[in-house]
Amino acid sequence: MRTSPLPASDLQDRFGRRIDYLRVSVTDRCDLRCSYCRPKDFDGYAEPADWLSFAEIQRVVAAFARMGVGRVRLTGGEPLLRRHLVELVGSLAGLAGVHDLSLSTNATQLDKHAVALKSAGLARINVSLDSLDRDCITRVCGRDSLDATLAGIMAAKAAGLLPIKLNMVAMLGVNDHEIERMAAFCIEHGFILRLIEAMPVGDAGRKTGFLPLDAVRSRLVEKFGLVPCSAELGGGPARYWQTPDAQSQIGFITPITQHFCASCNRVRLAVDGTLYLCLGQEARVELRPLLRAGISDGELEDVLRAAVDLKPHRHEFTSAPQRIMRFMSQTGG
Ligand code: GTP
Ligand code: 5AD
Ligand code: SF4
Repeated sequence: MRTSPLPASDLQDRFGRRIDYLRVSVTDRCDLRCSYCRPKDFDGYAEPADWLSFAEIQRVVAAFARMGVGRVRLTGGEPLLRRHLVELVGSLAGLAGVHDLSLSTNATQLDKHAVALKSAGLARINVSLDSLDRDCITRVCGRDSLDATLAGIMAAKAAGLLPIKLNMVAMLGVNDHEIERMAAFCIEHGFILRLIEAMPVGDAGRKTGFLPLDAVRSRLVEKFGLVPCSAELGGGPARYWQTPDAQSQIGFITPITQHFCASCNRVRLAVDGTLYLCLGQEARVELRPLLRAGISDGELEDVLRAAVDLKPHRHEFTSAPQRIMRFMSQTGG
């Protein structure tokens, strides 16, 4: 959590939005097959020769950081599948201007890596966990990963990778009846629950039973006495509520019923060096050929500024749900 004011990013898009958050996907591979993310038989992976090297990722992050992008989140697929990720964490944590280095993970491998990640400079983690019920997890994730994920979460807590946020995609008829149980679990263990509306990204996202979160929020307000929370809990789109003792927070991520594009602060770097300007649009710039052709640091900054100018106004998930054919695992959420 931020305690002192930080210099504002000087990267601004056409709509006056300051970009200060970069999401970096370090692999498009994953050891799970979450139903809302990608199909079970998915095989359209990036070629290893096209993966940005750690040095290439570091160059792009450093260029963004020089322009005031201080928040960096590593994503996947499952980022812990990228070999030697701890080395990348160490090099990014050491960059001037990077003040919030975080990871979005399914945590199945986190128990082995939590201490090393913390020592290398990782600040905090967000973990996908859609259910505490073994059968439900097996159905949603394609295998029973519950114990592995819980072990990873507890290892992260012990290592001090805090705060820990648990991401639960709310799915009609799948895990909606488990939301109160998940909230109680998070309150008990000191985790921040975030409920997420499913987005129609790729076929897998479109097939997911969308659950609007306004009724869910009313349910939770009633059960736990939640009140709105104004504390800053990261740099993302969640809107937070908290228990009356202010000890536990629950975040609502509502891209469909109450989108947050007007305050969007982020862009996404995919493992193949594609810079996506919006999760819900096709706007992109290919950085890999430029990096491999020996672009200078100054030229790279110019390219990134021009790319940010291409950032779309907003997603069109409701009016054009077929637009995004790529799967969530290709941009890391
Ligand atoms: P912090 O708030 O900094 O902890 O991170 P975050 O919530 O931005 O990151 P996380 O990877 O945990 O993402 C949680 C959910 O929010 C995922 O479903 C993301 O796809 C979704 N999300 C994150 N950023 C955006 C965004 O810019 N647009 C949309 N539509 N969804 C987003
Ligand atoms: N809609 C909403 N959230 C999604 N995620 C993956 N696919 C989708 C989708 N179609 C979430 C995962 C993970 C985060 C990075 O993105 O739950 O926690
Ligand atoms: Fe930003 Fe696009 Fe997400 Fe809207 S959908 S918040 S513009 S990335």
